[in-house]
Order: sequence, then C-alpha cells, then structure tokens
Amino acid sequence: MLHGKRILLIVAGGIAAFKSLELIRRLRERGAAVRCVLTGAGARFVTPLSLQALSEDRVYSDMFSLTDESEMGHIQLSRDADLLVVAPATANILARMAAGLADDLAATVLLATDKPVLAAPAMNVRMWTHAATVANVETLKKRGVTFIGPNDGAMACNEHGPGRMSEPEEIVAAIEAMLATEQPLAGKRALVTSGPTREAIDPVRYISNHSSGKQGHAIAAALARLGAEVTLVSGPVAVADPAGVRTIHVDSADQMLAACLAAGVIDVAVCAAAVADWKVTRPAGAKIKKKAGAQPPPLELSPNPDILATLSKPGPRRPALVVGFAAETENLIANAIDKRGRKGCDWIVANDVSPATGTFGGERNTVHLVSAKGVEAWPTLAKDEVAGRLAARIALHLAQPRSAEAAE
Ligand code: CTP
Repeated sequence: MLHGKRILLIVAGGIAAFKSLELIRRLRERGAAVRCVLTGAGARFVTPLSLQALSEDRVYSDMFSLTDESEMGHIQLSRDADLLVVAPATANILARMAAGLADDLAATVLLATDKPVLAAPAMNVRMWTHAATVANVETLKKRGVTFIGPNDGAMACNEHGPGRMSEPEEIVAAIEAMLATEQPLAGKRALVTSGPTREAIDPVRYISNHSSGKQGHAIAAALARLGAEVTLVSGPVAVADPAGVRTIHVDSADQMLAACLAAGVIDVAVCAAAVADWKVTRPAGAKIKKKAGAQPPPLELSPNPDILATLSKPGPRRPALVVGFAAETENLIANAIDKRGRKGCDWIVANDVSPATGTFGGERNTVHLVSAKGVEAWPTLAKDEVAGRLAARIALHLAQPRSAEAAE
C-alpha cells in the first residue's frame, strides 16, 4: 500500500528507538522508501549502521556537514519526503518542535518542512503527563501534527501507564491512513450506531440514558475519511451529523434495529449506541395525567431487541467484522470478554463509564480492545483519536486475507 511513498524517519533518543528498526523493515516491506535522520541522543540507542542497513539509504545526523549542506541538506531532506515520522518522539524533541527550535538537524528539518508530520511519542509516564508535555502536544496538534499513541503498559523504567511507543504495525497503519491516496476503505460499506435510544412512556415522557453520541459519530466520520460508504443510525443527540456520512435519525431501539436491517449488505458494523435494554410494554397513547391521591402508574417493561447480537448472527448477511462496545462501571475486562462471547461479535471496545471517568458526555475515552487475540489497552485519548485508531485497525483487518482474519 505504500509503493512509491517516501518517508523521512526521525529517530530521537529514547529506549523505544529499537522499535524503529522494525518500523523501517515493515515500511520497506510495503514498498516505501525510508530515509533516516538520527539525533545525537538517538545514536546512543541505535547505531547509524543499523538504520542504514535496514533503510538501504544514507543516515543523516550532522547539521553542519559540508557535503550535505552544500545542497541545502535540511531543506532537501524534507522536500524529498511525502511524510515525516518522528519515532520515538521524546519529550525533548516534542518540546523543541513546539518551541520552533532549530538546534540540530532533526529539529531544523521539522521546522523547515511543509509536509505532514506524524509523531509517535515514547517517554516515562510522568514526562508524558507533565503539564509542559501536555501543552506541547496540544500546540503541535493545533499546528496539524498527527499523533499515534502512546500506549498504556509496562515501561522500560519499571513503571506502568501511558508512555510506551505504539507498536510498529500501529504506526504503519497510521502512516497508511495519512498517505491514503487510494483510501483503504474505498468500496467498503460501514454501519455505525450511535447515541442513546428513547423509549416512550407516553407522548411526552421517555426512558433514556446519558450517551452523547460523540464517540459513535467520530467513528462514522473516521471511517468515511478512509473512504468507506457509511450509514450512521443515530438516536437523539446534540452533536451534528458528520460530513460525508448518510445519517438516519431514530428514537427507539426498535426503530434503530429496523434502520440497521434496512442498510443492506455491509462489510463492517460498529455498534456504539447505548441502546436502552428495556422499553415500556404499552406506551400510553395520550399524556398520563396525575390523579389526586392516586399511586404513580406502574411501568411494565419488556426487553428491547439486541441490535449487536442480531447483526452478529452467523449467515450470509453477516458483516465481515462486527464491533461492539461495552460500557461498564465495574469488572471492565471480564465483563467485556463475557459480552463478546454472548453477543457473538468479533471485537469489543470496552470503556469504563463510571461517573469519575467523565466518559459519558466528555471529550476523552480510555478503552480496551478485546478480540480473539486478547486484550489491548489503549491510552486515554480524545474520542476522535479513539475513532481514528479504530478506523485504521478496521481498515487493516479488512485488508487481510480471509484466512488471517479467521485467526483473529
Ligand atoms: N447493544 C445493542 N442493542 C441492545 C443493547 C446493546 O446493540 N439492545 C449493543 C451496544 O451498542 C454495545 C453493546 O451492545 O455495542 C453492549 O451494550 P451494553 O449496554 O454495554 O451491554 P448490555 O448488552 O446492555 O449488557 P449489560 O446490561 O449486562 O451491561
């Protein structure tokens, strides 16, 4: 998918630099040309020789090289690339990028470039969460730098938390998404459910929940950006219909199911809606009036159809990939694994929605991706970053041959 693409890989000084060697190998396998810039600190972790051998190209480190600079080396390096990738992106290089410094070849190239930049941060958890790094990342995002990761997990410094550099295959997926000339989901049909449902008690009252629809809508938009033809079936939400997506508005779970089934044959379904589990068995046709001294009316409830389980049923119409969400307030992982089995879907995106997390209605989300392969912890990300990452993973999965898919 990367034939003819030219990547300028900037390797800064972090222990994760060893993963950049694997990244080069994977990019070369996909047909990309990779040229490396190695910082002084980076050279403490990997050698120019390793980078050169894997990239089959010269490695650039020296800002004041007479031979290189006679050709305006730092400008030429960026001119020759389709994309700049900073991996590992240390706290130091992110700070230098945010400040606009040009104190070595890597920083100078990053300042001089007009090409898209992807950064894969890698650092100690406290460096990542430090207010200075948070502010630098915000600044860089506002300037258009794309971020992949960091992931959550055990780190070389014996600590645990966000700070691990994304795995090479995740970085490759992000690169492919950024360079997608021919979009990886072009020709694929996606169905996304989003938002809450409303179950009528009478014409003016209903049962519902706090779902904002932000995560589901962001997923629909991210899939559309990768070229999918997306149908979004949304319950009542305040967020706008995403651009380039066919949005169908519904109220109740029954309506949501009917709209999903009417969407026809689809390749991937993502059920992000917080569907009400129960509906009122016999909603009143007219507003229920209070009667002086009378008890409140009893509400008889009956189960709603399970949209995710319905779409996951084996058969010729089953999408190649069905993704559900698990909104849990306790035993997140165990419940998510159980839910995946019960509903028959392929992946579950598990998120903790206890009030303290601020997930419902908030801008950020901390999720685990549960598949047959196991459980993957993602760092806390903005909901649109979760969406972008999920869309990239979906594209990667649908691009695999069926035999590899079956193994997941
Ligand atoms: N879902 C659905 N239709 C339903 C209920 C849930 O499609 N009637 C989907 C949601 O969109 C989500 C997944 O199922 O992808 C999990 O929903 P959740 O409400 O977290 O789980 P429940 O099935 O309700 O299980 P529990 O109440 O035990 O948490």
